Amino acid sequence: MNPALRKEYLEALGVTPWVLRAGKASEAAGVVAQALQAPPVEENLGWEQLRSRVAACTRCGLSKTRTQTVFGVGDQSADWLVVGEAPGAEEDRRGEPFVGRAGQLLDSMLRAIGLARGQVYIANVLKCRPPGNRDPAPAECTECLPFLERQIALLKPKIMLAVGRIAAQNLLKTDSPLSKLRQQEYRFGAARVPLVVTYHPAYLLRTPTDKRKAWEDLKFAREVYARVDR
Ligand code: URA
Repeated sequence: MNPALRKEYLEALGVTPWVLRAGKASEAAGVVAQALQAPPVEENLGWEQLRSRVAACTRCGLSKTRTQTVFGVGDQSADWLVVGEAPGAEEDRRGEPFVGRAGQLLDSMLRAIGLARGQVYIANVLKCRPPGNRDPAPAECTECLPFLERQIALLKPKIMLAVGRIAAQNLLKTDSPLSKLRQQEYRFGAARVPLVVTYHPAYLLRTPTDKRKAWEDLKFAREVYARVDR
């Protein structure tokens, strides 16, 4: 990427550009992620059937409080899949993931590694908003994960970026804190899709001092992507 443009993106992210020590990111150990264990959605379901299935879902109590489901958005042939936690108030109103303040920061984070929002696919672990922006309950995640799993099977991404603890822990089936999960390359599911973890943009809005670490993670993700077969 053009260095001046890169500097501009980093400034938009609120990160002062600096140079990562040579070799650091590429030393990260590969860890194999376990496959999702929730009941699967039928393997023959296409994008539109899946979207309808999600829109009609009553698998958990969130169906009673949602305005609408938030399926996912982006290029259905994208190499990159970004996975967040759950819709917030703005997403619940508009039916699209990451359209509030956190979404604006996510867009800047993606731009910092040369990706426009329309070039990636964005989805959440939960398709419905937890009321009052509480954390998703484990049972809600278990019920909803098969939809994401089917999205992943349809999309066949070359790389997945899990943003935040909830996305990372649910995809990797772990209780480890995010600080222990970042800066490593995992492999997701039977297709062994490379998966990298970083901070949630809503967390970064509250804790801007960690934006520098998020920038390290984004660069690491870009390195992992550069190594995948395409
Ligand atoms: N936070 C998320 O994790 N997802 C959204 O869609 C919005 C905010």
